Parts: sequence; C-alpha cells; structure tokens
Amino acid sequence: MAAVRGRTDTSVIRVQGLARTFRTKTGPVEAVTGIDFEVLRGEIVGLLGPNGAGKTTTLRMIATLLAPTAGEATVAGADLRTDPRTVRSRIGYVAQGGMTNDEELVIDQLILQARLFGLSKATARRNSDELLDTLELTGLGRRRCRELSGGQRRRVDIALGLVHRPELIYLDEPTTGLDPQSRANLWEHIRRLRDEGTTMVLTTHYLEEADVLCDRILVMDHGGIVAAGTPEELKQRIAGDVISLEIADEQADLAIRIADKVLELRSKMRADGLVHLTVERGDAAVVPLLRALDEQGVVPGSLTVKRPSLDDVFLTVTGRTLREGK
Ligand SMILES: Nc1ncnc2c1ncn2[C@@H]1O[C@H](COP(=O)(O)OP(=O)(O)OP(=O)(O)O)[C@@H](O)[C@H]1O
Ligand SMILES: [Mg+2]
Repeated sequence: MAAVRGRTDTSVIRVQGLARTFRTKTGPVEAVTGIDFEVLRGEIVGLLGPNGAGKTTTLRMIATLLAPTAGEATVAGADLRTDPRTVRSRIGYVAQGGMTNDEELVIDQLILQARLFGLSKATARRNSDELLDTLELTGLGRRRCRELSGGQRRRVDIALGLVHRPELIYLDEPTTGLDPQSRANLWEHIRRLRDEGTTMVLTTHYLEEADVLCDRILVMDHGGIVAAGTPEELKQRIAGDVISLEIADEQADLAIRIADKVLELRSKMRADGLVHLTVERGDAAVVPLLRALDEQGVVPGSLTVKRPSLDDVFLTVTGRTLREGK
C-alpha cells in the first residue's frame, strides 16, 4: 500500500542534535535538548507531549523561524542553516496561535499568502475557494477575521498554511479549539493530503488524535524524545495488553501462580475482585490461560482484554499522565 499512498523511503526531514536554549532573566531554559529524528515522504509524524515539552520550539526551528543553538537539519532537500530560504519556500506552517490578521478579509489573506509563494492570481483564487469549501468556511471569505468564531478562525489559520499546496506541512495543535465535527472534518482533510503525497508533522495533546492520524509518533518530554514508533508499536512495546479476570478472592493467588507458569507476565496485580495480568499479546494468551485455569478448577466470572491506550504509553514513559504534565 505504501506506493498507493505516495510514500517512498526518501527522507524529507533529517534532524541531528537539534537543540535550543533560551536565555531568560532567571537563567537558561533548555527547551530542546539535542534531538534526532527523520520524517519520510508521505508520512504524518506526531509530536506528542505535555505543555512545555519542546514541541513548538522544535517546529519553529525546522520552519526556519527560530535559530537552533546546536545541531543540523535537512528539510525538504535544503540545509536548514545555509539555505533557509529554500526551506521556507517548500513548507507550510500553521502556528499554535495562528497568524491571521484581524482586520483583513479572509479571502484576501488567503490569496496574498498563495501569491507570496509564487502562485498565479487565478490559481491562488482557485486554491483559496476550494479550501474554504473543504474546511467548511463556505461563504465566510468576505468576513474580517475578527468577525469569526474561534473555531472558524482556527480553520482560517489552517487554510493559510495549506493554500500554496506545500509538499511539507507543520501543524502546531491544529485541532485545539475545534468542535468534534470540525475536528473530524480536519482529520479527514489531513488524511486526504497525506494520500496525495503531502508530508506532515503535527503536534497534539490529544492521544486519540495522535492514534488515529499519525503514522509515527515521537513522544517528547523535557525537551527530548523519550519514545518513538507507530502508535501500535508504542502501545505494544511499552505497555503490553492487560487481561483482567474476575476471580473469587480465595482463588486469586492460585490464578496468578497458574498464569505465571503458562504466560510471560510483564506485571500482575489484584484489585477490587479482579486479577490484572499484563502480557505482550493479549489475544495469543487467552486460550492457554483459560485452559490452564480450567485444569486447576479456576473458572473466571469474566475476562476482558484491553489494548493499551497512548495514555498508558505516556504514563509508562514519563511517569505522568498528559494532564498532570500541564
Ligand atoms: N521565547 C522563549 N523564551 C524563553 N523560554 C521559552 C521561549 N519559548 C519557549 N520557552 C520555553 O521552552 C520550553 C518549551 O516550550 P514549547 O513552546 O516548545 O513547548 P510545547 O511543547 O510547544 O508546549 P505546549 O504544549 O504548551 O504548546 C518551555 O519551558 C517554555 O517555557
Ligand atoms: Mg506548543
């Protein structure tokens, strides 16, 4: 399927030792501490992490908007340090706070943005109109940005980053402030762009968003990348599946001993009349487990297998939930 999606193994972004320290009155802030990563053509890569993890700083550096303190990067075929103009001409950037102008008409801003990237008047107009439709802003082109709702305005921000049809797009928390329907609509649009061969790097606090949208996730914390992989890999590798069995108290210890013998347990726990067993693959473990329990006369009242969520992954890697991190 890789070819259908337009993905090849060419890297669009290659980052080595990228770091940024901010000097502040109260001392240096190491916002990004020397990170390495690669983004392949046609991928959606998500930077997932709590407030202050270094996501925006990373995006701003690879967008040429902020000079790195150390490190190197090649972005869209050009060197970040020596050829920032070429990098800038090939990317689209949707900032966390947006870049819309209060007083100007939406359509004028879109057309201007496209023209700045060298598109003809006609193409600029056509792209702008199309985007207004796909982002469900039809009819709002002749409004000033201050006359829009927060969610509508966020969608104009996104349109501004996409209107010149860049090959590489950065989206800093694209769906924050959008209602569920607009969020779903934007997800669909992002996937469509990916299917057409666009490469995207996005940041998010929403685990669900990272899970459904991203081909790969870089988990960031305290300025570093603390885990990386596909959502599936991360869930599998870090957390494992949890099998929960409802077992009478007097049989619980026996059940755990039996499970220990037939399965490779990563962890085991008793709580509230349930026995929780963490294993690498829950689906493969259920049959041998039930058979062994049955042979010893232990019959669970119920059994559930829970795939780990990215929440669990984040907790395992950082020791905190995303919400506590805020
Ligand atoms: N201009 C600046 N001057 C000083 N410190 C800064 C500056 N910009 C960011 N920082 C600090 O760098 C760290 C990383 O910030 P960054 O904005 O990259 O985080 P983030 O992961 O995008 O967080 P959020 O989820 O809140 O958007 C934070 O500790 C922040 O306070
Ligand atoms: Mg940010």
